[in-house]
Amino acid sequence: MTRQILVTSALPYANGAIHLGHLVEYIQTDIWVRFQKMRGHECWYVCADDTHGTPVMLRAEKEGLTPEALIARVHAEHARDFAGFHVGFDNYHTTHSEETRACANEIYARLGAAGLIETRIIAQYYDPLKQMFLPDRFIKGECPKCGARDQYGDNCENCGAAYTANELKNPYSVVSGAKPEIRQSEHYFFKLSDPRCQTFLRRWTQGEGRLQHEAANKLREWLGDDVDNRLTDWDISRDAPYFGFEIPGAPGKYFYVWLDAPIGYMGAFKNLCAREGLDFDAYWRPDSSAELYHFIGKDILYFHALFWPAELEHAGYRTPSKVFAHGFLTVDGAKMSKSRGTFITAESYLQQGLDPEWLRYYYAAKLSASMEDIDLNLDDFVARVNSDLIGKFVNIASRSAGFIGKQFGGRLAACDESLPAIQAIRERRALIAEYYDAREFSKALREIMALTDLANQYVDSVKPWELARQSGREHELQIACSNALNLFRLFAVLLKPVLPALCKKAEAFLKIPPLNWDDGGTLLAAGHLIENYRHLMTRVDKKQIDALLEANRESLLATPDSAPPPKSAAQKPPATAGDTSTVDSGRAEPTLGIDDFMRVDLRIARITDATPVDGADKLVRLALDLGPLGTRQVFAGIKATYDPATLVGRLTVMVANLAPRKMRFGLSEGMVLAASDPAGKAPGIFLLAPDDGAQPGMRVK
Ligand code: 2FM
Ligand code: ZN
Repeated sequence: MTRQILVTSALPYANGAIHLGHLVEYIQTDIWVRFQKMRGHECWYVCADDTHGTPVMLRAEKEGLTPEALIARVHAEHARDFAGFHVGFDNYHTTHSEETRACANEIYARLGAAGLIETRIIAQYYDPLKQMFLPDRFIKGECPKCGARDQYGDNCENCGAAYTANELKNPYSVVSGAKPEIRQSEHYFFKLSDPRCQTFLRRWTQGEGRLQHEAANKLREWLGDDVDNRLTDWDISRDAPYFGFEIPGAPGKYFYVWLDAPIGYMGAFKNLCAREGLDFDAYWRPDSSAELYHFIGKDILYFHALFWPAELEHAGYRTPSKVFAHGFLTVDGAKMSKSRGTFITAESYLQQGLDPEWLRYYYAAKLSASMEDIDLNLDDFVARVNSDLIGKFVNIASRSAGFIGKQFGGRLAACDESLPAIQAIRERRALIAEYYDAREFSKALREIMALTDLANQYVDSVKPWELARQSGREHELQIACSNALNLFRLFAVLLKPVLPALCKKAEAFLKIPPLNWDDGGTLLAAGHLIENYRHLMTRVDKKQIDALLEANRESLLATPDSAPPPKSAAQKPPATAGDTSTVDSGRAEPTLGIDDFMRVDLRIARITDATPVDGADKLVRLALDLGPLGTRQVFAGIKATYDPATLVGRLTVMVANLAPRKMRFGLSEGMVLAASDPAGKAPGIFLLAPDDGAQPGMRVK
């Protein structure tokens, strides 16, 4: 039976780049969707940029852009990165769309009509300089428990204590540095504490298979029992200035970004419906027989398993069939870290020439249906890609295809159906399909790789390369290679959800139409003509990984974002943002020995030229004279503070032995040193300068 399936991944914020943490989810979802499509189901995969909120507004301001211009640029960057990793959305939309606005207004109106919206006056921190209310993540101060300075308004990164922003000592605004005031304002609330919501959610969250076990348990904790009702009303409005949709009938009040973000799933689908002539209501009405699945990170479970179904239910829409949460990504067993270079952007991965399907394969080999974190172990990545993808899969074709091309005009002989490897594939196909369907990708790949071992054992036993040297054994050679290529084709069917581009190349080389799942039950006929074999995939070289880390190592001059880094809170809804990765906190690095320090070659440099960089608001291109060490080009993020023309002729200090880094604008061959205050109290960047007498090229220690 053909199923109608609508699938979403969480909408990435429009104020940052896609990185390898994000990609866990998009690759996971894409594999699942591709599998469903190969099975012949009507499956639509939609996503969008999550464009609204204070961070986007402030970032646009910082870049001197309108929010609309910023989100348009980021949308193009995100779409490029996703396409680069073969994430095949049927529609990649934006929440800043008329479709999303219409759906948000509709849901809000229906919730209001159901008596589930109310207004209340609340007290909130206000930045008197910037003239705006401050979300908790834009307030810092001293931790009320341990006194650590510069802690965010929701929890302390030093002692781990959780608190509310008004408990912080000596609070200051991250936006302007001003001391915030408490001000009153009217806010709109979705009455989640209403008994109707409670009763519904208690039933919905415990529905069979709707949530993973760990998630259902978490929800039980959040919901409490009948007596101990733990749900509180949800604040869905924000005051101007805010980038978002103004609430109908409430001038100066905007829907909170988290209200319209999931509604963006509907907006993206509505937009697709108009393009494809689909019936939106057939997917969203309460009695819809279509299936609706949301893939998300475990940090946003609260929004997807409480707020979202309650909104949909009480606004007269269907609710999600299932919510699939996954864990965070670690790299080499630790949080992604900018200083170690493991906070890797999708763009840099592709720019460094790494194959996106290496990562797709590696993630798939690690992914299961659970909410456990997954680790990208870089040595294991190299070993596994080379041994499985090249050594086991591609190898089957590369060891046999040439003979068919050269000696048999590209024609295959009949395949021997009784081969143990072919029999084994036939037996295991259904199980592999079950694993894909259940998002147990690591189990699916383990099965497939065990089958490739059988296929390679077959090739090893018939040794086509030896047959080719013996006259009179041509027919045996043709049969051996035809068997191998048939096996290769069967593996292409099984691996296509994970490796769509590689399998497309395989289809072209085998001269066959796009493979579907059922093609795994057939073989190529005798006489089938194939193309000449062309290289399908290269091995990963560890050096490529080293270069990738180097390219992502953060420069000391990177200016702090106005949007603070996301946190990994699986326990409660984050106040602003969260994504699927974890990032280091930026605290001081542990101590290092003098030998380590001496490995950093610091030199006096004279700035001989300084020019702005087209297309990079923050960067200045510096030409540096290092005396006997020659000249260097460095891109420095100092434009906000320095007029390039005023820099020419002055001396500064640079790291002279930093590996060169390829940037969009050219090669950066080192780094100049400067100070900045991450809290922004003393805004600006302060370039270091030596005392009089220092000469270009002198060592600094
Ligand atoms: O956590 C995040 O990155 C959000 N931008 C996810 C939104 S998902 C959905 F609700 F829109
Ligand atoms: Zn503390």
